[in-house]
Amino acid sequence: MIEFPDGFLWGTATAAHQVEGGNWNNDWWAWEHTPGSGCVDPSGDACDHYARFADDVAMLAGLGFNAYRFSLEWSRIEPEPGLWSTASLDHYRRVCEACLAHAVTPMVTLHHFTLPRWVAHVGGWESPDTAGRFGAFCERAVAALGDLVGWAVTMNEPNVVAMMGYQAGMFPPGRRDPSLRRSVTDILLDAHRQGGAALRDGPGHFPVGLSLSMTDFQAIDGGEERVARYRRAGEDMWLEAARDDDFLGVQTYTRMRVSAGGPVGNAPGVPVTQMGYEDYPAALGACLRRAADVAGATPLVVTENGISTDDDDRRLAFVEAALAEVGACLSDGLDVRGYVYWSLLDNFEWAFGYGPKFGLVAVDRGTFERRPKPSAFWLGSLARANRLEAKAAR
Ligand code: BGC
Repeated sequence: MIEFPDGFLWGTATAAHQVEGGNWNNDWWAWEHTPGSGCVDPSGDACDHYARFADDVAMLAGLGFNAYRFSLEWSRIEPEPGLWSTASLDHYRRVCEACLAHAVTPMVTLHHFTLPRWVAHVGGWESPDTAGRFGAFCERAVAALGDLVGWAVTMNEPNVVAMMGYQAGMFPPGRRDPSLRRSVTDILLDAHRQGGAALRDGPGHFPVGLSLSMTDFQAIDGGEERVARYRRAGEDMWLEAARDDDFLGVQTYTRMRVSAGGPVGNAPGVPVTQMGYEDYPAALGACLRRAADVAGATPLVVTENGISTDDDDRRLAFVEAALAEVGACLSDGLDVRGYVYWSLLDNFEWAFGYGPKFGLVAVDRGTFERRPKPSAFWLGSLARANRLEAKAAR
């Protein structure tokens, strides 16, 4: 049995573009409709969460969660340069208020992969000025919402933005240039600093940090040097930046085995998720420990962890194993403040469209009807108990 600390955050997450629907004014929507981008579906109405947020928040609270991580859609709040939408800010106030009315802590992400089209048109993350534009957005957002925010994540997985958008070409703007990945990373770091400063200067008192995509890189057959290189290219600068933050969000999905020649692919016999990578929950413990090693005393929150599968028993087993990892880290003295499952809803999985099922709750694509899966009830009851019983108790 694992007892979690008092006040442990038990959350589940979404991101605006993946659930709200109708976010036509951002770079991702444009990308979905660009021939050759590789996107398999347009996001379209997504889960209609923009209209249905009140029911969704009531549902997650009813299941037993005490935190909800969601993101603000910059393209709604600042649809044209300097044109601020009070109505959109009011909407996100209502989302925060709905959380608070249900004793759910609002964990607000300011940037989760999407940029307003106008920002993309003036250079997006290739333009150093975008750091200041993001800072101004954070200033406006916190002025409107700061008194209601529980935790704030400046940027979701900036290392994925740099890698997927500028080196792998799978996210907008679809560039394939490793040197751009490096220069964009510097601009994202600056944006995190400017955004974080704006959030701290505004109304409200809440922890501010970023969330980082971490992979459990495992060196085999002399792969140590290459693992060190991968970490330097995508993780280390962010872990070091997090030393100055109030917390670090760790987001881990799997491991990657790496030899001297590069990634060796999935190990034979290890089950694979709908995303094509190994179902390997132990990755979370390894990444939390590495985060603590490099980020020092900064508290950690698991701001995303989950599995895409049609088999809900497998989801439950994955989360149980991942929580056992969190428990082991806590026993070793790591300061882990919460666990947020990705995702509340089956939603728009970026270039992979609506195929992968990460959700605790299924969504009917024709009617938007929500149907919580057994894993949702199980994880919610565990959240209420604040403890994980041994397997036999299920
Ligand atoms: C992202 C989510 C995404 C999830 C599953 C994370 O990289 O923050 O937006 O849906 O992983 O792939």
